[in-house]
Amino acid sequence: MNVKTLEWIGGRPGHVRLIDQTRLPGEHILLEVREAEAMHDCIRRLVVRGAPAIGVAAAFGLLLGVQSLEERDREDTVGRVRECAAFLATARPTAVNLFWALERMCARATRDYNAARPIIDGLFEEARLIYEQDREICRRIGAIGAQLLRDGSTVLTHCNAGALATADYGTALAPIYVAKDQGKRVAVYADETRPLLQGARLTAWELTQAGIDVTLITDNMAGRVLFEGKIDAVFVGADRIARNGDVANKIGTYSVAVLARENGVPFYVCAPLSTFDPAIERGEQIPIEERGAEEVAEGFGRRTAPLGVRVYNPAFDVTPARLVSGIVTEVGLIERPNRERVEAALRRGGVLA
Ligand code: MRU
Repeated sequence: MNVKTLEWIGGRPGHVRLIDQTRLPGEHILLEVREAEAMHDCIRRLVVRGAPAIGVAAAFGLLLGVQSLEERDREDTVGRVRECAAFLATARPTAVNLFWALERMCARATRDYNAARPIIDGLFEEARLIYEQDREICRRIGAIGAQLLRDGSTVLTHCNAGALATADYGTALAPIYVAKDQGKRVAVYADETRPLLQGARLTAWELTQAGIDVTLITDNMAGRVLFEGKIDAVFVGADRIARNGDVANKIGTYSVAVLARENGVPFYVCAPLSTFDPAIERGEQIPIEERGAEEVAEGFGRRTAPLGVRVYNPAFDVTPARLVSGIVTEVGLIERPNRERVEAALRRGGVLA
């Protein structure tokens, strides 16, 4: 993959280099992030975004916060790790990968503390594992999802669940990249994805970079292209999946799922097991981030609504499991997801006992 969304530079001490996604597609700027506070800001402002990439960024952010601790007082070290994790966890509320990665780092610190092993060294290893495993998982999701695509398929996608949202091939775009590697021709329609235009700015950009045939549409055109029979399948990512298979993803995903069902087009969600939240029973319990009014009323610096108008800006919505044809995970396809099938996949992946 040509796109390096984020990476750890150097050893210990080291820092994070990431693409500033707020500047794409106009400018390709690499930021050097050296402090946990700066990483928190990057996640909050969507400089780095997309559930799996947020998880990796949080793990690296924790390293930035604790890498120079001396470890003379080991109890204090674990306390500082937990403090830093609690701080990073406030960056965004919906993508569960953020909390998943931070919990994994804290668990590692506690384990090494109890085993009298060097705590910070362990955290370096854990963060590297989270990064490397995300790359492998993208490839596996890609291989499984590519089986749903034939030569000549056209896919509709929403938001950006590609390389820019992960450490490698992405989730929803991974099957498209793998299908291309297999010699299949796959075309993509990308919803622009108001209000922050992740589809136009990021998906259209990275697919163009990869030489994939992509057509950009505004969100309100999705119904039209589905009605016209232009789409064989919808592929989207996820920010959090409840135990019953309800899926939280970028605002507008639910509308696409309804339109896909109405037009008899399969609707697939591609997500790693780290995006499932077994503590959440149903979609309505998933916390939905609300963002500032300016994203809607003056997107990208130009006022497009009257001053003072009331704005509602939920960043995500929930698609009920009944509208989902399947969830592509690294342990296989969960067809027509429900609680039983989701739990079986989570058991296969070792998430549930
Ligand atoms: O607000 P964003 O840009 O972080 O939202 C991203 C999405 O909704 C993605 O579809 C999701 O995180 C999956 S990324 C593989």
